[in-house]
Amino acid sequence: MSIAKKPFGNLSNGEAVSLFTLTNKNGLSAKITNFGGILVALNVPDRTGKLADVVLGKDTLDGYTAGHPYLGATTGRVAGRISGAQFKLEGKTYQLEANNGPNCLHGGLKGYDKLVWAAEIINDLGVDKLRLSITDPDRSNGFPGTVECTVTYALLDDNTLEIAYTASTDKTTPFNLTNHSYFNLSGAGNDDILGHEMQIFADSVATINDDATLQGRRDPVIDGFNDYREPVLLSSRELNIHNADIHFFLDNGRTKLPKAAAVVREPTTGRVMEVFTTEPGVQFYAGLFLSVDAPEIGKGGVTYQPKDGFCLETQDYADSINYPEMGGAILQPDEPFSSTTLYRFRAI
Ligand code: BGC
Repeated sequence: MSIAKKPFGNLSNGEAVSLFTLTNKNGLSAKITNFGGILVALNVPDRTGKLADVVLGKDTLDGYTAGHPYLGATTGRVAGRISGAQFKLEGKTYQLEANNGPNCLHGGLKGYDKLVWAAEIINDLGVDKLRLSITDPDRSNGFPGTVECTVTYALLDDNTLEIAYTASTDKTTPFNLTNHSYFNLSGAGNDDILGHEMQIFADSVATINDDATLQGRRDPVIDGFNDYREPVLLSSRELNIHNADIHFFLDNGRTKLPKAAAVVREPTTGRVMEVFTTEPGVQFYAGLFLSVDAPEIGKGGVTYQPKDGFCLETQDYADSINYPEMGGAILQPDEPFSSTTLYRFRAI
């Protein structure tokens, strides 16, 4: 695998941002910027060997800094919603920034998706990897504790994009980290995702309110509605937040080694993506709100429409701080966090 670095532009404060291209021995490539730890492009072959970029994104750094719905972004300190942007911890009430109605979504106004990460190329047992790191200070966006966090990307020769995370804190804090890539296996901007077949290895979901906040309930999947244990052609369902913007509890919970979470197949191109993770859950989001508030202009000038991309955001139960019995999205001092997610590609 090789990693090349080039300039991606400058922020308004003059800070330079880079774009890294990871290429594996089969010619697959991934482009990642250290602004927001964003996966900008991911080129993978179809059944004839033809490469296409399968993630939604922007052409330029300015496209990302202008604001976007977390396209490809590393999302934290807490991916997902904390209800009422509030929680109590050790007798103290913490008020977060409300950026989604009264709730805190994806870490607040300046989450990990908007930070400039320090970047280094490391060699891990003979494999070159891109390691991004940040220090997220105490009380940033209202959260307690200074968090040290790394995200390491590698494009392995078995056509796997590996994303490995580590984190530590000096005070107990809510913490839930994910990658928010929107995939489209027919090629970003070419088509919607309705021809994809989605399979998720989960027999229960995290029930939500109509504003998508978590209820602190875990319910069995419902046949024909949000049961994806057998492959589901997405066009066969009326997709809404309760079956296509929802957290699935994976059957084996948090694991030491990555386990199968989901498989997605796109019959026209033959592309298949398998998702493995050590995380206990995955948020399946079918891009329902793309361009709903304002046109979302993506790479090549294409306007992304609702259901033009899907996310499989591996993570824990976002609102664990308010519903501790539901998950472990809480980082403790002396209990460093590490987690790995694999997106593996093949064509049939
Ligand atoms: C959430 C959606 C939200 C989207 C973009 C997803 O992770 O579940 O409700 O609209 O991110 O912010």
